Amino acid sequence: MKEERLTVSKIRSGTVIDHIPAGKALHVLRILGITGSEGYRTAVLMNVESRKLGRKDIVKIEHKKLGEDETNLLALIAPTATINIVEGYEIVEKRRVRIPERIRRLLTCPNPTCITRSSREDVVTSFKLVSRDPVILQCEYCGTMVRGEELENLLTK
Ligand code: CTP
Ligand code: ZN
Repeated sequence: MKEERLTVSKIRSGTVIDHIPAGKALHVLRILGITGSEGYRTAVLMNVESRKLGRKDIVKIEHKKLGEDETNLLALIAPTATINIVEGYEIVEKRRVRIPERIRRLLTCPNPTCITRSSREDVVTSFKLVSRDPVILQCEYCGTMVRGEELENLLTK
């Protein structure tokens, strides 16, 4: 039987983010700060078949080679993601993602009285990684603990 698949061209250079949990591709773009207006030719595939994950999302960004500091943030919502850096149609680097020890700016503190939520103060949020499994972060200003499941609702951008 002929395999049915949604085919999207290989890219010549750039970054392919593969093995994203199904349905999380738009969160991935948001964490990377990609809105579409930067002009990168970008393919977003959602809910495609995967042997490892059942279903998965894939994001391909042409001509943009994402660095480790950027892609490690993806571990917050897409811990299974693999990052493929492509040059001349070949994968020149393949890496996993890992939550960094400190996360600045990306997340809003859920505590409404936290100093980072005050409109009069110009304080950038900062969370410290307390535990990887299960994922637990802590606001460095007010001490509020945040669990992994809460993170996608706390994304600032
Ligand atoms: N890819 C691409 N353009 C290229 C090379 C690869 O878009 N020039 C994409 C592939 O379509 C795939 C991903 O990058 O979605 C990873 O490619 P590859 O390592 O060849 O696939 P797998 O071996 O299946 O990856 P893994 O071992 O990570 O499962
Ligand atoms: Zn706080």
